[in-house]
Order: sequence, then structure tokens, then C-alpha cells
Amino acid sequence: MNNLFKVKSVETIIKQSEEAGESHTLKRTLGAGNLVALGIGAIIGAGLFSITGLAAANNAGPAVTISFVIAAVGCAFAGLCYAEYASMIPVAGSAYTYTYATLGELLAWIIGWDLVLEYAVGAATVAISWSRYLGKFMQHYGINLPSQFMMSPFDSVTTPEGAVISGFINLPAVAIVIAMSFVLIRGTKESALTNSIIVALKVSVVLVFIFLGWGYIHPANYHPYIPENTGKFGEFGWSVIVRAAAIIFFAYIGFDAVSTAAQEAKNPSRDMPIGILLSLAICTVLYILFAHVMTGLVPYTAFKGQDGIAPVAVAIAATPYTWLQQLVILAILAGYSSVIMVMLMGQSRVFFSMAKDGLLPKVFADVHPKFKTPYKSNIIVMLFVCLFAAFIPARVVGEMTSIGTLFAFVLVCIGVIVLRKTRPDIPRAFKTPLVPLVPILGIGTCVFMMVFLPLDTWIRLIVWMAIGFVIYFVYSAGNSRLNK
Ligand code: ALA
Repeated sequence: MNNLFKVKSVETIIKQSEEAGESHTLKRTLGAGNLVALGIGAIIGAGLFSITGLAAANNAGPAVTISFVIAAVGCAFAGLCYAEYASMIPVAGSAYTYTYATLGELLAWIIGWDLVLEYAVGAATVAISWSRYLGKFMQHYGINLPSQFMMSPFDSVTTPEGAVISGFINLPAVAIVIAMSFVLIRGTKESALTNSIIVALKVSVVLVFIFLGWGYIHPANYHPYIPENTGKFGEFGWSVIVRAAAIIFFAYIGFDAVSTAAQEAKNPSRDMPIGILLSLAICTVLYILFAHVMTGLVPYTAFKGQDGIAPVAVAIAATPYTWLQQLVILAILAGYSSVIMVMLMGQSRVFFSMAKDGLLPKVFADVHPKFKTPYKSNIIVMLFVCLFAAFIPARVVGEMTSIGTLFAFVLVCIGVIVLRKTRPDIPRAFKTPLVPLVPILGIGTCVFMMVFLPLDTWIRLIVWMAIGFVIYFVYSAGNSRLNK
């Protein structure tokens, strides 16, 4: 029983990572600016360009803007906690590794298993949105990709003639996951330059949208600002603003990915907190303005149905700048690739760390002789993500990602409080201010958002964690390196 809560000391973690040569194989080339760019590259994606539309249509209406503020508050508290960890334990593995050092093996396992929801299921969510924008892009040239192969079997569209077409498989989503997985396997490390170009593109799209769209806002679209409650919890009215916050929380995910680049940072203790917090701050401002313009251009009901997945296209159609549409969609398609890649990479790094600790089979830690990447892990993750991207609707995977990540953030916040008590001696280049208040507020905000997610999402989280427990007790506990 004691084994379950045995912690792996911070010193051991850092020493093992040095032995594994992780700090030698990766060059320390990233400065604060690169880290901020890395964060923005991972953050801006389907959350903003897709889920904002779904949340406005199905939940909050124009008040989705308030939801962005609420979600940002939760992320800011969690971000401050991540920053302390990243400046203290600068190794790969992120929240999983931090938890192993603070709360012990069982909770580390739980968070590692839970991070699959953030990274793998999150990647599937972005891939599904990518597919939708691809469809929109091709439509412009008169090419209508067959709807059956663009959606999950749980989705359907109604043609202008009134026929209902059900989905079968989402092939473009599968294709982009396979493509990005192979880029990862080849180890073409996304150079800081490529990332900067993609980030510049994404930020420009957002800024152009805000500036050009602002003049075409119809104030009437903001009335009612908070659509009336339909009588159901979570469908319009005040309860939806929080539910929508939990859903669009997805849009902020990614700042924590900055922490996985700790070993490539020139001055991690100073620059990691800057990377995490500044990327988060910049995205928050952009998101709030973007949501305000988007819901001002058209009535939120215009984002109903499949159109909700590509809402930017719908919103631009309401301005005279329709010529911009293709350029914007192209930038979005390119921009998603960096998000998908960071998430797939995050997933394989977490599995890699878990396999090194013996909690997962060794195959997840096998490194390709030539490319030096965990290629087997990449392939297994790819197959798993493809299944989700192919057959599950955007709403389901998006909400699963949100609930899983919120849960991870809660554990990270708890860990900061615990580590201050158990290991006050470790130098912390960045200290979360006002501990325990800030972590407690982080826990409170994240749990609050989780509570408002729909019941089916909770059931999926519980089932997923139950599967995790079975694997832990059947396999991991007995194979753990720490226990041996
Ligand atoms: N925040 C990332 C996105 O919105 C995951 O795509």
C-alpha cells in the first residue's frame, strides 16, 4: 500500500534525465521569445476557430465572451503553478513527472493516464476541425468532398434539397493525424523558425479578423446577450456561461506544453515562467476580442449544426471581405498542424516517461536507431488518435479533452502546495505567488468548470479512469521501477 504513494525524488528525476542523455541530445537554443511563440503555436487552434462557434450556438450565445474570461482566470492560476514546477523540475514528462515527485506513484499514474485525454483526444479534436475547414476550403473551388467521409457516424448534415446524409468516417482528420505523426517520427524537430512563421500567420488571422470585422458588428446580434434558459441546466441562461467556459477552456490548452521544452531552453528558470504566462496572457486578450467580433457579425444561431465547426467561414461571409475567406482558412489549416504536432509529441513524451518508470510496457520507450525518436510510441498513439478522429463527433472529444485537462490542472495545483511543505529546500527560480491561496483558487475555478460539464462527459471521464485503474493494478504496480 505504501508503494502507491511512494514519491520519486526530484533529485532522482533530474539525475535520470541527465543519465538518459536527454539534456545532452537536446540543444539549449530557445530564448524567452521562442518559448512564448512555442506557447502561442500550441494554444491557438480548434478551440478558437471551432469550439467558440459550437459553444455560442449550443450554450452561451454572445455571452461566450464572458466564458472566455472565466476560463482564462482558471488557466492563469494553473499557469502560475505550472511555472513554479517548470522552473524547479525542468525535465520532460510535464504534469506526470511533477506528480510523481509530489503525490506519489498512483496519482502520477492517474495523471499520466488522464493526460491521454488532454493530448491524444485533444489532437483528435483539432484534426476533426481541420477536416471541416478543409471541406470549406475545397467547396470554394466547386469541389464537394463526400460528406459521408468527412464526419463521424454520429454526425449528419441536411442537404439544401432536404436529404439527410449520415457520416461514416472522417477521412481527412485521419490523414492529418497520420501526416503529423510521420513528421514527428522523422524527428524533423519543428524548428523555431517554422514555428514562428506559423505563429505569425495565426496571430495575423486573428488580428485581421478583429480589425476588419469590428466595423460590421450588428449590435442587434448581442440581444439577448445571455439567451434565456431553456429550462435545462446548461442550455442558455447563467448556467451556460460556466458550461461554455468549461467547453471553450479547450482553447487555452497548450500553454502547459511550454513546460515540456524545459531542456531546450537557454535559461529555463527565468524563461519558462515567461513563456507560459506571457503566451497565456496574449491569447486571452486575442480570444476575448475575437469572440466579441464573431458573435457580433452574425446571430449565434448561424453557428448551429456542422457550420459550428467552421464558424470563422460563416462570420467572414457576413462581411464584404469574402475574398479573405480562402486565405484565412488556409492559415487556419496550416496553424492547426502545429497544434496537432505539439499534442502528439506531448503524448509520446508522457508515455515515454511512464515506460521508463516501468508503468507502461517498454515498447513506449523504444527509440528509433536512426531518427532517435520514440517511433513505436508515436505509431501506437497515432492509431489511437486516428480511431477517435475517424469515428467520434467533435463535441464529445472536445469536452473529454476539457474535463481531462481541468482534472490535470487540479492535481498540478495540489502538487505545488504539497511540495512547498514536503520539499521547501529545493530552489525555485519562480515561485507561485500567495501559496496556498493561488493554487486553491486554481483548484476551485477548475473544479467549478468541471461541475458544469454535461453528465455524459463525466461518465466518459469515470469510465476512462476506471480502465486506467485496472491497467495500473494488473500491470503497472508490479512493473514499477521505483517499487523494484
Ligand atoms: N488550445 C488548442 C486548440 O485550441 C488545443 O486547438
